Amino acid sequence: MMHFRVLALLALLAAVAPLTYAASANVQVGGGTCTVVPLGGGQDDGPNILDAFSQCASGGTVVLNEYYVVNTVLVTTGLKNVNIELSGVVQYTPNIAYWSPNSLFLTYQNATTYWFLSGDNIHLYGGGTLDGNGQVWWDYPNATSGTAGGSSTLFARPIPLTVGNASNVVIEDLTQIQSPFWNNFVYQSTNVTYRNINISTVSYSSNPTLNSDGWDIYRSSFVTIENSTVNNDDDCVSFKPNATNILVQNMNCLAGDGMSVGSLGQYAGETDIVANVTVNNVTLTNSQNGGRVKVFGGSPLANSTAGGGGGYVKNITFSNFQVNSVDYPIVFDECFATPVSCVDYPTKIAVSDVHYSNFSGTSSGAEGTMVVDLNCTMACTDITAGDINLTSPNGAATYFCRNVTSTSELDFNCTDSV
Ligand SMILES: *[C@@H]1O[C@H](CO)[C@@H](O)[C@H](O)[C@H]1NC(C)=O
Ligand SMILES: *[C@@H]1O[C@H](CO)[C@@H](O)[C@H](O)[C@H]1NC(C)=O
Ligand SMILES: *[C@@H]1O[C@H](CO)[C@@H](O)[C@H](O)[C@H]1NC(C)=O
Ligand SMILES: *[C@@H]1O[C@H](CO)[C@@H](O)[C@H](O)[C@H]1NC(C)=O
Ligand SMILES: *[C@@H]1O[C@H](CO)[C@@H](O)[C@H](O)[C@H]1NC(C)=O
Ligand SMILES: *[C@@H]1O[C@H](CO)[C@@H](O)[C@H](O)[C@H]1NC(C)=O
Ligand SMILES: *[C@@H]1O[C@H](CO)[C@@H](O)[C@H](O)[C@H]1NC(C)=O
Ligand SMILES: *[C@@H]1O[C@H](CO)[C@@H](O)[C@H](O)[C@H]1NC(C)=O
Ligand SMILES: *[C@@H]1O[C@H](CO)[C@@H](O)[C@H](O)[C@H]1NC(C)=O
Ligand SMILES: *[C@@H]1O[C@H](CO)[C@@H](O)[C@H](O)[C@H]1NC(C)=O
Ligand SMILES: *[C@@H]1O[C@H](CO)[C@@H](O)[C@H](O)[C@H]1NC(C)=O
Ligand SMILES: *[C@@H]1O[C@H](CO)[C@@H](O)[C@H](O)[C@H]1NC(C)=O
Repeated sequence: MMHFRVLALLALLAAVAPLTYAASANVQVGGGTCTVVPLGGGQDDGPNILDAFSQCASGGTVVLNEYYVVNTVLVTTGLKNVNIELSGVVQYTPNIAYWSPNSLFLTYQNATTYWFLSGDNIHLYGGGTLDGNGQVWWDYPNATSGTAGGSSTLFARPIPLTVGNASNVVIEDLTQIQSPFWNNFVYQSTNVTYRNINISTVSYSSNPTLNSDGWDIYRSSFVTIENSTVNNDDDCVSFKPNATNILVQNMNCLAGDGMSVGSLGQYAGETDIVANVTVNNVTLTNSQNGGRVKVFGGSPLANSTAGGGGGYVKNITFSNFQVNSVDYPIVFDECFATPVSCVDYPTKIAVSDVHYSNFSGTSSGAEGTMVVDLNCTMACTDITAGDINLTSPNGAATYFCRNVTSTSELDFNCTDSV
């Protein structure tokens, strides 16, 4: 009999509060929504955020609408049809002693991440902020140790948001500040869209920010990045090995390194492909590059980690660029960070079908009068340029082309051409 009374009591409770129960005191679950209530006082909200994701992992909505402190690596995987309302602030702690060894290690350039977001059909939105607390990392002694990718296994600067092993993801209306490393990593994923993302990674000390790319895309396809702003000191968007079928449009990039294919061909024996990329309607101000292709040269060593990898770059379009004080508005570097002579060891990456159209504005003058630098160590084929109207503050603009086979398809007169 007692049995039935307990059931009746439970039924009554359910009737009074039909949709709410507390699994963890600080995760409110109900109606398919898991809302994380901050602990406050600088305590780690990470475990409760993970709890919310595990309870709302299928068809649910995770709500992060307040200010959260996170000192636990967020690995949120296996999500299916999940909404994430990030309207508050998620701030990772400045706890290097925890994060460097415990951030999730990925398989490319020692990259690690604070948050690995994975699954199918995920929608993250809400107008909130992701704060990577980068300053402590840039100010740390020896912060620049590590090569190429810039992070190291000994001092692993995490990426605030990685979309990894995921499909059908939309991320919109988000502010991202102070990333210790790349702001966003699209890793082994397909059909991922970012829009209305406002990125700012700026150092307030004399130490510069480090590797603060807006986006890096690796082993991923069908990625769209649009209507976003990036204020940083490195690539706006970087197309890493096996980024294919990518659209980037309506972007405003400030102070960084521009739109960059590569670097590719770093590792001998590896095949790197970047193909079918469209980058359209971009404003770049005080940037190092406009539209760039950056590949390593060759190498005599079978085990080289500084060039010698093969592959190709094909079907890339850079259109409607406005450049304001950009060092290299149009540039191919086919001997990037290569320790041996690229005349003796040309790149093994074949570059073809790269199209530049409607570029206007001014170079910075850092490269004299040169506004175009198409410098190939293996012949580049089917490179075209139209409606290029670039000026140099140092006098009549000059255009450098080496080993480009299609100079008749360029609407400027090359010097040092094939
Ligand atoms: C920085 O590097 C120097 C030289 O390798 C080393 O002696 C020193 O301990 C390092 N400092 C930190 C804080 O890692
Ligand atoms: C990874 O880190 C190790 C040291 O921890 C370093 O030797 C190596 O060069 C780094 N690799 C890259 C690609 O940065
Ligand atoms: C890409 O993902 C979005 C969001 O989940 C979805 O609406 C769209 O249908 C997907 N596109 C394809 C081709 O699967
Ligand atoms: C993106 O920007 C373009 C150009 O300003 C605009 O036409 C479009 O509506 C915007 N898209 C979204 C989803 O905000
Ligand atoms: C180009 O992008 C800017 C944002 O940087 C936007 O305001 C403008 O409307 C876009 N132009 C077109 C034609 O979509
Ligand atoms: C890129 O894709 C090609 C073709 O599928 C593959 O052979 C190669 O291993 C991939 N490279 C990387 C770095 O994933
Ligand atoms: C590039 O796009 C073309 C046309 O859609 C397609 O046939 C080709 O496979 C794509 N290349 C890659 C590497 O995805
Ligand atoms: C080139 O890439 C674009 C996507 O950026 C794609 O629509 C087009 O089909 C590709 N063309 C070829 C010839 O592969
Ligand atoms: C690469 O191979 C050479 C011999 O060909 C060897 O001396 C060197 O130590 C190797 N480097 C690495 C990083 O394995
Ligand atoms: C062209 O590349 C070679 C290395 O292959 C380099 O020595 C030279 O300075 C470059 N010139 C320009 C103008 O980029
Ligand atoms: C031009 O490319 C060919 C191979 O395509 C290479 O043999 C030659 O060394 C390159 N020339 C220069 C000046 O880099
Ligand atoms: C080229 O740009 C300059 C300003 O930088 C402008 O005055 C001129 O009209 C432009 N020429 C063409 C053909 O668009």
